[in-house]
Amino acid sequence: MHQIKTVCVCGAGTMGTGIAQLCAASGYDTLLFDLNHAIVQNSENTIHERWQGLEIKKKISQNDLITFKKNLRVSSNINDCRADLVIEAIIEKASAKIDLFQQLAEINPINTLFVSNTSSISIHSIAAKLDDPFRFAGMHFFNPATQMQLVELIKADQTSEGMVKILQDFVLKLGKTSVICKDSPGFIVNRVARPYYLESLLMIEQGNADIETIDTVLEATGFKMGPFKLMDLIGIDINFSVSNIVWDALGKPPRLKPSPIQEQKITQHELGRKTEKGFYDYPKK
Ligand SMILES: NC(=O)c1ccc[n+]([C@@H]2O[C@H](COP(=O)([O-])OP(=O)(O)OC[C@H]3O[C@@H](n4cnc5c(N)ncnc54)[C@H](O)[C@@H]3O)[C@@H](O)[C@H]2O)c1
Repeated sequence: MHQIKTVCVCGAGTMGTGIAQLCAASGYDTLLFDLNHAIVQNSENTIHERWQGLEIKKKISQNDLITFKKNLRVSSNINDCRADLVIEAIIEKASAKIDLFQQLAEINPINTLFVSNTSSISIHSIAAKLDDPFRFAGMHFFNPATQMQLVELIKADQTSEGMVKILQDFVLKLGKTSVICKDSPGFIVNRVARPYYLESLLMIEQGNADIETIDTVLEATGFKMGPFKLMDLIGIDINFSVSNIVWDALGKPPRLKPSPIQEQKITQHELGRKTEKGFYDYPKK
């Protein structure tokens, strides 16, 4: 069976940074790639700081720290993106993902496997544009990737059964639990979670409650994070794209209509934690 030893993570944003950290700490020789050199450099620093923090708290040993750092490389040169498994975590735009996979297929051998971390784009629609769709699937991590236990695996019609088994084994080696989902809009979690965000946004729009109250109430009922704190963590731009893609794919039902409040936040570049401002402020420490 094909053994995964090297991993390339494309996109050094919120998700790519966490996924690369996880893979390197799980023993995989990991390359983190982003088009923007400053972003990928910043991600490397962030990951190193996180590991140093864990070492100070004695959650990992000094040897672990050295090994983890050795396992992680970063690059802004696409020609470095050669690996047994490529995990794509770039912007939530189908054409950008397809374009990247086509470029990566040209520089990797035929046994390289490709997965997308997309939250909502049809895996089948990406597979249809690739020359070798049998080696392509969805692998959807949750945020923060280092902490969240679940990974949704999404199989396109063309994905080989052998690849699915390899991915299940890989997820297990990352210490996570995988669930195989149908390639339906939003897969499972993002479909079920849509009303959590959209109904809360609608309440704000209609002036029925304020952001803090909604978050406080939902956290008090047992949700780990209120919807507005969660949208800030996810990224309001990403969350809005997912809402649009799911809404569109389901035939635009009024109950899942994306919110103009999010559109306005995006225009103001208030995207959440990553821009230090979203529904809440996150001043740099
Ligand atoms: N944010 C979440 O909570 C979350 C959770 C699960 C899945 N996802 C999915 O993960 C993917 C990434 O989301 P994110 O929140 O990390 O986005 P992000 O906006 O934080 O980061 C995207 C990164 O991709 C880079 N990029 C853009 N085009 C590129 C290209 N062609 N090649 C290389 N790098 C490129 C950008 O420079 C940026 O650094 C999306 O598909 C999203 O739907 C997001």
